[in-house]
Amino acid sequence: MHVLVIGKGGREHALAWRLKQSPRAGTVFCAPGNAGTARDGITNVAIEHTETDKLQRFCLKEKIGLVVIGPEDPLAAGLADFLRGKGLKVFGPSKDAARIESSKVFAKELMLKADVPTAEFRVFDHPQPARDYIETRDYSVVVKADGLAAGKGVVVCKTSAEAVAAVKRIMTDDEFGAKAGRHVVVEKRLEGEEVSVLALVSGRTFLPLPACQDHKAVGDGDTGPNTGGMGAYCPAPIATPELMKEWERTVFFPTIHAMKRGRYPFQGVLFGGFILTNQGTRVLEFNCRFGDPETQVLIMRLKTDLLDLLEAVADERLQEFENIEWDTRPAVCVVLCSGGYPGKYDTGKPITGIADADRLPDVKVFHAGTKVDELNRVATDGGRVLGVTALGDTLADAKARAYEAVKLITFAGMHYRSDIADKALKVKPPAAPVETPKLPAKFRKRGGDKPST
Ligand code: GLY
Repeated sequence: MHVLVIGKGGREHALAWRLKQSPRAGTVFCAPGNAGTARDGITNVAIEHTETDKLQRFCLKEKIGLVVIGPEDPLAAGLADFLRGKGLKVFGPSKDAARIESSKVFAKELMLKADVPTAEFRVFDHPQPARDYIETRDYSVVVKADGLAAGKGVVVCKTSAEAVAAVKRIMTDDEFGAKAGRHVVVEKRLEGEEVSVLALVSGRTFLPLPACQDHKAVGDGDTGPNTGGMGAYCPAPIATPELMKEWERTVFFPTIHAMKRGRYPFQGVLFGGFILTNQGTRVLEFNCRFGDPETQVLIMRLKTDLLDLLEAVADERLQEFENIEWDTRPAVCVVLCSGGYPGKYDTGKPITGIADADRLPDVKVFHAGTKVDELNRVATDGGRVLGVTALGDTLADAKARAYEAVKLITFAGMHYRSDIADKALKVKPPAAPVETPKLPAKFRKRGGDKPST
């Protein structure tokens, strides 16, 4: 079967690489792909996801048997519906179901309706009531732009002044786009460790994948601004088998059933971003796609044929799989970034050492922002450049092997975190000055964690 993967990140390289290993796979194409997919037995196709007619013509010409859509933007724009409408088999949710990620308001209201544990919140379509609400909270809040904002529309605030400023940035200044900022969600800021739990979903059937932990902040010890993800490990020991069972019952089951009842059934991978608070688990957000870099560590451990799995989801035959087989060894992925990322960064820097790193046993270098330059060299072409991923007998071994591979790779300006997986290895982060924001006494009252709409 010929397969087309849509996207150009580390997630898509990992998916295409594993799909190519299926005995049933014919040609695996990636549109548009990156330098890794160009050199890994995968065929890049120079079509962007917005060129929908071109994509459809390509699929028909190449007799594509399965289209796998990686990123959220094409899903939110309805690419899965469009291609399905042309008779193609597609892995990925409809535009309506993708609202679970593309609209924060939709996701929060769905969670409320389905009784899925989440932080107390309110939705606003005007800045003034949002400001009034913030000023009367006796806790810190998070302000979220309703729409997709390339992962930047969530502002975690320490003080009410920061939250009021976030409302202005989102709703008045349209910093994340006029559409994304038409509504905001203001929700209670929660404290705890975060964990990513993804599940394959098809109709009413779902199969959770092992939990992973991402590292969102750019700096060691979770310092500095947030990024798309600086590294991940899998499995995350914090997600005990008991908790995984609980989340099936309290999160995945009610969400999937509510979506089916609402006539926007989910098909694809549903990604729950959870936080483990003193009061129990709360869902911070849902994504309608594979995580990045969670996919790199999951794919490294996956033993079941990925093509069989994704096709079964697309065919609504997921119930045929009782279990998914995993390598028992943990995996660690360290993301190498361009200088300046997550702010402004340069591209076009030649990269050396990838082949040496790839030759190490149980190591795979997944490309993200890379291209083949005019001199036929692999060069940087984005903020997150490579995801160096390794398996090890223990999590500590996987970490050591990943960093051994990282040391072989260089490009101008390269930076990365040196503490991926330390949370699970119980390595203490370096002491940092702790700032505890204090609200004026008149606001230090009331409590509760019940949604108020
Ligand atoms: N790693 C977080 C995400 O994929 O959104």
